[in-house]
Amino acid sequence: MLILGIEGTAHTFGVGIIEMKNKKILFNEKVQFKNNEGMDLRELTEFHIKNFESVLIKAKEFLKSKNLSFKDIDLISFSQGPGIGNSLKISGAVAKTISLKYNIPIVGVNHIRAHLEIGKFLTGFSDPCFLYVSGVNTQIIAKDDFGNYKIYGETEDIGLGNLLDSFARLFDLGFPGGPVIEKRAKKGKNYIPLPYTIKGMNVAFAGLYSNLKQKKEQFFKNDGKIQIDNNRFIEYENYDDFVNDLCYSLQETVFAVVLEIVERAIAYTNKKEFIIVGGVASNKRLTEMANGLSQIRNLKYASFPMEFAMDNGAMIAYMGYVDKKRAKNEISNLKPQPYINVESEL
Ligand code: ATP
Ligand code: FE2
Repeated sequence: MLILGIEGTAHTFGVGIIEMKNKKILFNEKVQFKNNEGMDLRELTEFHIKNFESVLIKAKEFLKSKNLSFKDIDLISFSQGPGIGNSLKISGAVAKTISLKYNIPIVGVNHIRAHLEIGKFLTGFSDPCFLYVSGVNTQIIAKDDFGNYKIYGETEDIGLGNLLDSFARLFDLGFPGGPVIEKRAKKGKNYIPLPYTIKGMNVAFAGLYSNLKQKKEQFFKNDGKIQIDNNRFIEYENYDDFVNDLCYSLQETVFAVVLEIVERAIAYTNKKEFIIVGGVASNKRLTEMANGLSQIRNLKYASFPMEFAMDNGAMIAYMGYVDKKRAKNEISNLKPQPYINVESEL
């Protein structure tokens, strides 16, 4: 079974092709809208309209190189939601057009579940607890006793990736924040205590961000002198050392926070496997800490290539395979669903 997956929920337009007879991902290409200032809706829309063709052409050329064409595709899968309305409309229209033109069955899938299912597929795990950490999302997800995905814990304000990006913006470190913070953290020498907010199985990061802002103000107001507890101070000779220490402290704090709610969810759900999905999963320190937790808790932990953990077409193709029973030969009732979550029916 040859499946073509189309991703276009937000910043990425991606196309993936998988072959399920041999369980192989054959093709996975994408273009990504990047803007330091965030996502201007008009620019984002323009980006998708301008760039989707180039990815489809690559897919066509790939199929041709294998003596295949769009006619040989058995199923079209596309991300129906959640996401940004305009992005969803464009990628949905592309998917429906290919389905109509070549008379191929089509299925609309849940983008978040696709992140989880591709993780299961690539690790070979059967029923893991997931930590989903992207820019927007920070959630602990696992299947309940009825086999339905359930959110056991989440952020009450901003996502972990967005916190890292906001921190990086505040300290002029560039965009995206995660990779540069990871690099600078390696040079950090001192742990500066930061707020550690867990509420049951939820987390919150807005207070931590305000605290980081205050630390920056303190640095300039007090000539590089930073208070770390009641009677201890660090006196920095240069700003770079201070920023390195903050990067290090930020990573240690927020990764401990999210892994603590994973630990709570594991104790509650009794799952034996653990996977991290989403862009923040590429962080080596987070992976190291997750490995540590898994050893203590006797959990099976595995990571998989980042290409498939970020938004991509292959995960949508695979989700189409999981949901193939819902595929139809008509495109009505496939409207974008911007506001669904992992627990929604779709
Ligand atoms: P989604 O719509 O799926 O939630 P998203 O745009 O919110 O997507 P992703 O593309 O999955 O998020 O991930 C982007 C985030 O990952 C950014 O916030 C970025 O800073 C973070 N990130 C990327 N690399 C690293 C890294 N090495 N360490 C920490 N964070 C990282
Ligand atoms: Fe995503």
